[in-house]
Amino acid sequence: VVDLLREELHGSVTDPVAASMNFLNEIAGRYPDAISLAAGRPYEGFYRTEDVGRYLDVYTGYLRQQGIGEERVRRTVMQYGRTNGFIHDLVARMLAVDEGIHVPADAVAVTTGCQEAMVITLRGLFRPGDVLLAAAPCYVGITGAARILDIPVAPVPEGPDGLDPAEVARVAARVRATGARPRALYLVPDFANPTGSQLPVPRRHQLLRVARDEDLLILEDDPYGLFGVTPHPKLKALDTDQRVIYLGSFAKSCFPGPRVGFLVADQAVVDAAGRRTLLAHELSTVKSMLTVNTSAVAQAVIGGVLVESGCSLRAANRDKIAFYRRNLSGLLAALGRYLPAGVASWNVPAGGFFAVLSTPVRADVELLTTSAREYGVIWTPMSFFYPDGGGEHAIRLSCSSLTPDDLDEAVRRLAKLLTAMS
Ligand SMILES: Cc1ncc(COP(=O)(O)O)c(C=O)c1O
Repeated sequence: VVDLLREELHGSVTDPVAASMNFLNEIAGRYPDAISLAAGRPYEGFYRTEDVGRYLDVYTGYLRQQGIGEERVRRTVMQYGRTNGFIHDLVARMLAVDEGIHVPADAVAVTTGCQEAMVITLRGLFRPGDVLLAAAPCYVGITGAARILDIPVAPVPEGPDGLDPAEVARVAARVRATGARPRALYLVPDFANPTGSQLPVPRRHQLLRVARDEDLLILEDDPYGLFGVTPHPKLKALDTDQRVIYLGSFAKSCFPGPRVGFLVADQAVVDAAGRRTLLAHELSTVKSMLTVNTSAVAQAVIGGVLVESGCSLRAANRDKIAFYRRNLSGLLAALGRYLPAGVASWNVPAGGFFAVLSTPVRADVELLTTSAREYGVIWTPMSFFYPDGGGEHAIRLSCSSLTPDDLDEAVRRLAKLLTAMS
């Protein structure tokens, strides 16, 4: 019988970030009565299991309406299929209707969640010596994806208004000075996870200029953009230089169960003989070796949501948008109500699922354990989102999955903890 040495496994297996996330799940399991301000999941009050079958029927009905025969309908939903998916045309229409992003349907690849879109994009674009720039603090899904692919990440520190384009240029220059190539920048411009920040419009234009000057691609990840008061134009909608690869998720705008997301890669790829293809087409080779194709059943369900809403997720999500806005206002109001001055301060995001609280108290796993055990509330230490250190006195608060009453009670408990520890 062989024993395998843990240190001989790939670094992604033993990554401390993965350990942090496991720790959070373990805490939630150990203290099931604690209210969670940690979970970034969508609110389940909107879900009805019978909707899944209805969406499936709506989609197959849509195919039949177009004169598609029964055999092909069956094959579409039940057989292996096109690598980049079959609802790409509906997704392209949704992007045009909701976001003013106009791309050919073939530039859209339907993926197994946004997570797969990140892995495919990184794998397809990065060669040895290339570096990914990423906003710090950063969503763990992208740093984790870079880790499994052995892609180095250079953090770009975020300010209260999100990324500073001048700082992006500085980090790119620093990377280049080491002999490496800064290949792309990853960011969530609208209501970032974990900070909730939204990049102001002038900065979006500046960032696109920096991308051109520094020869960077931009990976724009946008799972929360719907859930704000004033929609800002997407980087992809402002992208006249085809620098932006847009990453989308249906986890929040529909539901996470189907695990459907997408990438938009309308860049031209030219080979030595001058032949041109779309980047989305080239990336399909990577996808075919990861998941073959995105679940056909799952695509049909999401396709049903798109057909039923006339390809407008803004229209389909009116109730959810109102709910999440109310929860975010409720969270911010409760912080003001329960936390005495000097114990904590927090940012005021204009939308999304998250806010960040700063406190003189050390917000580490020890405090989190005390919080869950003795105060009945769970949250995420911001240090989990800084792979290179930082965030020791900050907490990510998530307001998406709770009822307004539970949210209020959770903040009351958190205030009690922080007041006692101050
Ligand atoms: C910023 C960000 N990107 C991507 C995702 C994952 O999306 P999906 O569930 O479609 O893989 C999340 C989920 O929490 C997220 O916060």
